[in-house]
Amino acid sequence: MCKTKLFILLVVFILFYVQFCTSNDTISLNKSLKDGDLLVSSGKLFALGFFSPGNNSNNRYVGIWYYNIPELTVVWVANRENPVNDTYGVLSIDPTGNLVILNRNTKIFSWKFNISSAQLLDSGNFVFFHDTKKEVVVWQSFDYPTNTILPDMKFGNDKKTGLNRSLTSWKSVNDPGSGEYVYKIEINGLVPQVFLYKNSNRIWRTGPWTGLGWSGVPGMRPGFIFSSKYVDNESEVSVTFTMKDSVISRLVLNESGMMSILNWQEGVNKWVQFWSAPEDSCDDYVHCGKFSTCNLYHLGEFECKCLVGYEPRENRSWYLRDGSQGCLRLKDENVCRNDEVFAKLSNVKVPDTYNARLNMSIGLQECEKLCLRNCSCSAYASANVSIGGIGCITWYGDLIDTREFTDGGQDLYIRVSASTLAQFSKNNSGYNMKRTIAIMTIFIAAILIALSFACCLVIRKRKRDKEDQFTSLNTLTKNLASYENSSRGNEMDGSEQVDVLIFDLSTIISSTDDFSDANKLGEGGFGSVYKGQLSNGQEIAVKRLSKNSGQGVEEFKNEVTLIARVQHRNLVRLLGCCVQRGEKMLIYEYLSNKGLDSFIFDKTKGSLLDWRKRFEIIVGIARGLSYLHHDSRVRIIHRDLKASNVLLDASMHPKISDFGTARIFGGDQIEANTNRVVGTYGYMSPEYAMEGHFSVKSDVFSFGVLLLEIITGRKNTTHNQDHSLNLVGNVWNSWNDDKAIDVVDPLLGDLYESSEVLRCIQIGLLCVQSYANERPMMSQVVFMLCNDTKLSNPGQPGFVYKSRNSSSLPYSSSASIGNSVNDISITAQHAR
Ligand SMILES: *[C@@H]1O[C@H](CO)[C@@H](O)[C@H](O)[C@H]1NC(C)=O
Ligand SMILES: *[C@@H]1O[C@H](CO)[C@@H](O)[C@H](O)[C@H]1NC(C)=O
Ligand SMILES: *[C@@H]1O[C@H](CO)[C@@H](O)[C@H](O)[C@H]1NC(C)=O
Ligand SMILES: *[C@@H]1O[C@H](CO)[C@@H](O)[C@H](O)[C@H]1NC(C)=O
Ligand SMILES: *[C@@H]1O[C@H](CO)[C@@H](O)[C@H](O)[C@H]1NC(C)=O
Ligand SMILES: *[C@@H]1O[C@H](CO)[C@@H](O)[C@H](O)[C@H]1NC(C)=O
Ligand SMILES: *[C@@H]1O[C@H](CO)[C@@H](O)[C@H](O)[C@H]1NC(C)=O
Ligand SMILES: *[C@@H]1O[C@H](CO)[C@@H](O)[C@H](O)[C@H]1NC(C)=O
Ligand SMILES: *[C@@H]1O[C@H](CO)[C@@H](O)[C@H](O)[C@H]1NC(C)=O
Ligand SMILES: *[C@@H]1O[C@H](CO)[C@@H](O)[C@H](O)[C@H]1NC(C)=O
Ligand SMILES: *[C@@H]1O[C@H](CO)[C@@H](O)[C@H](O)[C@H]1NC(C)=O
Ligand SMILES: *[C@@H]1O[C@H](CO)[C@@H](O)[C@H](O)[C@H]1NC(C)=O
Repeated sequence: MCKTKLFILLVVFILFYVQFCTSNDTISLNKSLKDGDLLVSSGKLFALGFFSPGNNSNNRYVGIWYYNIPELTVVWVANRENPVNDTYGVLSIDPTGNLVILNRNTKIFSWKFNISSAQLLDSGNFVFFHDTKKEVVVWQSFDYPTNTILPDMKFGNDKKTGLNRSLTSWKSVNDPGSGEYVYKIEINGLVPQVFLYKNSNRIWRTGPWTGLGWSGVPGMRPGFIFSSKYVDNESEVSVTFTMKDSVISRLVLNESGMMSILNWQEGVNKWVQFWSAPEDSCDDYVHCGKFSTCNLYHLGEFECKCLVGYEPRENRSWYLRDGSQGCLRLKDENVCRNDEVFAKLSNVKVPDTYNARLNMSIGLQECEKLCLRNCSCSAYASANVSIGGIGCITWYGDLIDTREFTDGGQDLYIRVSASTLAQFSKNNSGYNMKRTIAIMTIFIAAILIALSFACCLVIRKRKRDKEDQFTSLNTLTKNLASYENSSRGNEMDGSEQVDVLIFDLSTIISSTDDFSDANKLGEGGFGSVYKGQLSNGQEIAVKRLSKNSGQGVEEFKNEVTLIARVQHRNLVRLLGCCVQRGEKMLIYEYLSNKGLDSFIFDKTKGSLLDWRKRFEIIVGIARGLSYLHHDSRVRIIHRDLKASNVLLDASMHPKISDFGTARIFGGDQIEANTNRVVGTYGYMSPEYAMEGHFSVKSDVFSFGVLLLEIITGRKNTTHNQDHSLNLVGNVWNSWNDDKAIDVVDPLLGDLYESSEVLRCIQIGLLCVQSYANERPMMSQVVFMLCNDTKLSNPGQPGFVYKSRNSSSLPYSSSASIGNSVNDISITAQHAR
């Protein structure tokens, strides 16, 4: 009895609490916020209230933090210099419309506005409204960032109002007061750059915006999930970064002066750092003085180097590895209307633009002329590298703070006399040389070599064609009969004599019943897949590529020939292609069994695969992938490995399909021209998802996910509304709790050796580690699977999406050969 009453009381209390104390995102004239209460944004993403930072429990600050993240992560502080010294603080709007923080009726802090309400939005923005209808925004916290930039928040200057949105670090983790580091956009000169200051000394410079990113920040390229937008017009200069899907991400300047992008990784409940700067000593502002570059990538050498045409100002300090004195123009160097040229330096962060001019209306060639016309012009570069180069930056006088990267950065052209460049090029092939005999010599030599090579090829080809009973690509004989008589084994890349069949369009049309829907097997980013049957009864799978592949016919055939030679028993065979009437098609062997996904994710068919079978499948996939990566003639990165892209033959041997499609389709071209990234959610490695950067290690990541799926019989789904962990996160937690055996697919019963399964799980976790260089190579994975060696302990797995409104993404289902498709694949456009 009593218990029921108590219970009812409790419910009433909770309802009351929910109604009046939480779940409201607005304060207004009559509704203030006491210490202990929270404003929560309508989608429950951010909360605003009083907090104490770090171990500092005496001081209370009004701040905004993530509502859902267990680790208190403050993204904005209202009264960073004016804490409340006890827990009686109140945030309210006073009768004159000012928002104030009061402590026992003493005013601690106030914003002097004539406002009627203030609302916390789901973006993390705290917005003040003039009227109750919430129409006129008077003030917003996004305009006054503290140490954090959130997605869709502008960073930069409003040229009209003079409002500069910059970041200032906290004093310490226990004190959100203004610290010693400041990060801001500056427009000294004509080209905006971002500087990091420590106590008003410049310590790092990003360089100007190149159209894709900052010249000096190669790691922050736009990727599949991350993109940024730069605006420089009469009214503002600003950068905004956007996260696609719903990855929780923030850019923060921390107490020790490090800028970093952090993503919340739900699987492990941690912030994972994606990028950080300054990175190394070359990032120190003007580390090498004037007219020099900084390059850390030649081991053991002094990082500072004079630019071409310059020599150390002080030989002694240079010798002692102190570059701060910089360099001088070579003594006898005359670069004023005296046959001077430009030396190209690639992958650099361009010099400080304080003495630079910008002209967006001319291209690189006119830029060179412009620079040549003025004797004090020392270098030039493209202002926007995103489409082959637009605009022109010219430097007059000193060139300071240049550095080199191995990847990223942009090209810089340095004025130098022709004789110096020729001299330099003799010793160093790294520089591009113009108007010199050397280049002609090389050119002619290259042509001669190419010609003789081509002759050899033709002669050899002729010889071979005679002996060859199959049709060859070059002769273009469309003779199917000879193919039909042929019988080929599935040996491992043994024979040199692999020929690609050129199928006739009419053959394909009749075999697929004119691409009838009944024969359609799937549809995806690259096109649709149809089943076909040749007149001799052989079944084929035809992949009809979408029309605008951007690749020429010859190029296409060359790629097909290359890929067709890649043969392994764990790879689906590419038989040939068909190029006719603007159509491009790939013809594969057909496998009657469906994709691995239709077995492992299926309650009934899953039991067909016992542990032994599954292990064999894992090893088979690993072998196939290792072959693609290491042993075939062309290194192929699959880029879209997933359960539905692994087909099973009649005896349940796995065969990887769809490899090389990106190559055939001109994958690099796709990314360069249309900015599309192809891949499938859940299998995408963090570096691919974020930066669009793929490597063999991205495939290793996908393999790891696939391995865990095979063992658990569960999809690495990313659509978990209830905040439950996804598969990788789940396995990782179980592994850390020594309960990894619990994740094994219940369909396997007890019929497996737990040590073997645990070993496989461990290998899977090693493959999905967050940092690409910690993941093993596929060859090592094969070795680990087949030998009982000691394995290292897996580190934290790569990030796991948090999905709140995934529907905002453009999905398209993906095609795979020989089966229907139920996995989603993504083709996204990134804004650059
Ligand atoms: C917050 O409170 C105001 C007035 O007290 C009310 O009009 C509004 O609907 C509430 N909002 C939410 C999200 O509960
Ligand atoms: C605030 O309270 C006063 C009286 O206390 C009332 O007259 C007024 O309408 C209220 N305003 C709002 C916006 O609720
Ligand atoms: C908080 O921790 C710092 C070191 O991290 C220490 O110096 C300081 O005294 C601590 N403050 C309090 C109030 O405990
Ligand atoms: C807190 O601040 C108020 C006024 O701002 C002051 O009167 C009070 O003495 C302070 N309390 C402590 C414990 O410092
Ligand atoms: C504040 O705004 C209200 C309504 O717009 C107006 O009536 C009032 O005069 C304003 N007060 C001040 C001090 O500007
Ligand atoms: C904002 O930056 C601009 C250019 O860097 C500068 O001229 C202006 O004074 C700054 N405004 C404020 C309010 O600091
Ligand atoms: C760079 O060029 C691209 C392509 O024309 C354009 O979309 C982009 O806005 C340009 N960026 C800047 C900063 O001018
Ligand atoms: C500058 O760019 C911003 C953002 O794209 C735009 O809202 C604004 O109207 C532009 N201003 C001018 C003067 O073009
Ligand atoms: C600041 O960030 C860097 C890089 O993420 C990290 O190494 C460092 O420990 C951080 N400093 C503090 C005080 O958190
Ligand atoms: C530095 O040494 C080089 C050769 O070693 C010499 O040509 C040059 O004149 C020296 N420079 C100075 C400033 O002494
Ligand atoms: C850019 O170059 C063109 C062609 O040389 C010239 O007409 C134009 O005035 C230049 N613009 C600026 C801003 O210097
Ligand atoms: C060369 O450029 C500098 C800097 O822009 C300028 O001051 C100078 O007048 C120019 N000289 C000539 C000859 O155009």
